[in-house]
Amino acid sequence: MEIRTVVSQPAKFSVSALLILAYEEEKDRFDSWVNQLDKSIKNELTHLQKLGSIKGKFREHTLFHPESDEIDHVIVIGVGKRKEFTIDKLRSAVACAARIARRLSASALGVPLGKYVELPTEDSAEAALEGAYLGLYKFRKYKHSKKDEEEQKDFPRMIGLIGADKQDAARLDKGKEPGKILGESIGFVRDLVNEPSNVMTPSAFSEQARNAAKKFGFDCKVLEKRDIEKMGMGGVLGVARGSAEPPKLVILKYQGGKNFTLGLVGKGVTFDSGGISIKPSENMHHMTGDMAGAAACLGAVCAITRLKIPINVTAVIPLAENMPSGAAYKPGDIVKIFNGKTVEIMNTDAEGRMLLSDALSYICTLPVNAVVDLATLTGAVVIALGAAATGVFSNHDGLLNEVMKAGEESDEPLWRMPLFPLYTKMMKGQWADLKNTGGRQAGSCTAAAFLKEFVGDMPWAHLDIAATAHLDSPLPSEERLYLPKYGATGAGVRVLTVLAERLSRKGSLQ
Ligand code: BES
Ligand code: MN
Ligand code: ZN
Repeated sequence: MEIRTVVSQPAKFSVSALLILAYEEEKDRFDSWVNQLDKSIKNELTHLQKLGSIKGKFREHTLFHPESDEIDHVIVIGVGKRKEFTIDKLRSAVACAARIARRLSASALGVPLGKYVELPTEDSAEAALEGAYLGLYKFRKYKHSKKDEEEQKDFPRMIGLIGADKQDAARLDKGKEPGKILGESIGFVRDLVNEPSNVMTPSAFSEQARNAAKKFGFDCKVLEKRDIEKMGMGGVLGVARGSAEPPKLVILKYQGGKNFTLGLVGKGVTFDSGGISIKPSENMHHMTGDMAGAAACLGAVCAITRLKIPINVTAVIPLAENMPSGAAYKPGDIVKIFNGKTVEIMNTDAEGRMLLSDALSYICTLPVNAVVDLATLTGAVVIALGAAATGVFSNHDGLLNEVMKAGEESDEPLWRMPLFPLYTKMMKGQWADLKNTGGRQAGSCTAAAFLKEFVGDMPWAHLDIAATAHLDSPLPSEERLYLPKYGATGAGVRVLTVLAERLSRKGSLQ
């Protein structure tokens, strides 16, 4: 997709589809330039407004084809009240408009920004492009049916960010690159997560990491099963034992700064059958997405590298498939984690924490200043928060504060969850140091308390993305129109990228 910044009057920029925002206000339903444009198209907008087809309600879309030499289609998207208009609503509006443009096979979509909307110009350019990339995202490589042809189309081929003057254009240009990079990185993560488990094995994932590293210029090392054995990572090995697919440990390094090294860990279970404590078959197919934490880490390192953020990042990504077999790890087994702690297996389906405990205790031996892990860790967080927010746990207020701010800045909803001492007690083992499940109560909190045992006093935050990384049903009255109805969302990439930016500016956690 080509991206251009243009200085023009929106009505004069020759484009096949033009986006117009409509606000939910009685009087100034449009920005003033739209009223001018309306005059040149025989007041069609005023007419549609009178007929009641443009009310400006969020999600409303109206399409018409004016008698104009420049514009074939006008796409009017409602964005709600002016006072409540945000960058995130713009992201949604552009996503929606881009999909309509695709349906119309419109070759180009014009998005008036800068002095044409009341939002910071640079941020709006970035958000508009994210909206376009994410809204147009499709995962149709395995489909052939005619019905899906609409989504197979590669339209629009061009997005034009329209500004009113040179100053606008300069600011739009600044937001262009980050918008494209984040759009592409999140698309990459969605692809990794949406791939089925027979394709996206631990080996295939590590190949993807290697290729991305070569393409964008960060460091990638893949540790094999024998290396993982030598390191004494009993968690990773335990989980992988039942599978024909060997485990991998991917280590990514990006050196862009001097002061701060951010450590990232992502759960990479390429398929979670539950193992011997096997899951019911009904929803098991969703567990192809149980490597969304790993994918988000890889995607974030790609984005951070391409944006040249002045920070260092080290990511440790454990990959394994959780399967039942004659060789599989079993309830009652005791395994030894990288840092020497022993864990009694109560449930082989609590496998994510087994992988993460090895990876977390390992990354804490490397020169990092803080660690953030992302994992589709618990069904309990799905029950607690639903897809409304990612659950965040932390042992460090300074880091937590930065993570929460990054969530706000990136429009990825986060919600703080507690780490009461009781949860740690619930994870004490009978025969070993710890057990891997804490009973029915507070499932996502006990899981986090388990992880906490492996980070020592390292500033650490854990993001449970079980409900936000992968959607198995469309969200009712979803506000974020750039999310897909089903499948991978790419959750975590924007938070981590903004967090890296924030930490690079601060240089330390205090
Ligand atoms: N991958 C699952 C968690 C999950 C559930 C992710 C639903 C996405 C959607 C995880 O490995 C798991 O099975 N967790 C168990 C833990 C339990 C056995 C203590 C759970 O939450 O039920
Ligand atoms: Mn599981
Ligand atoms: Zn899992």
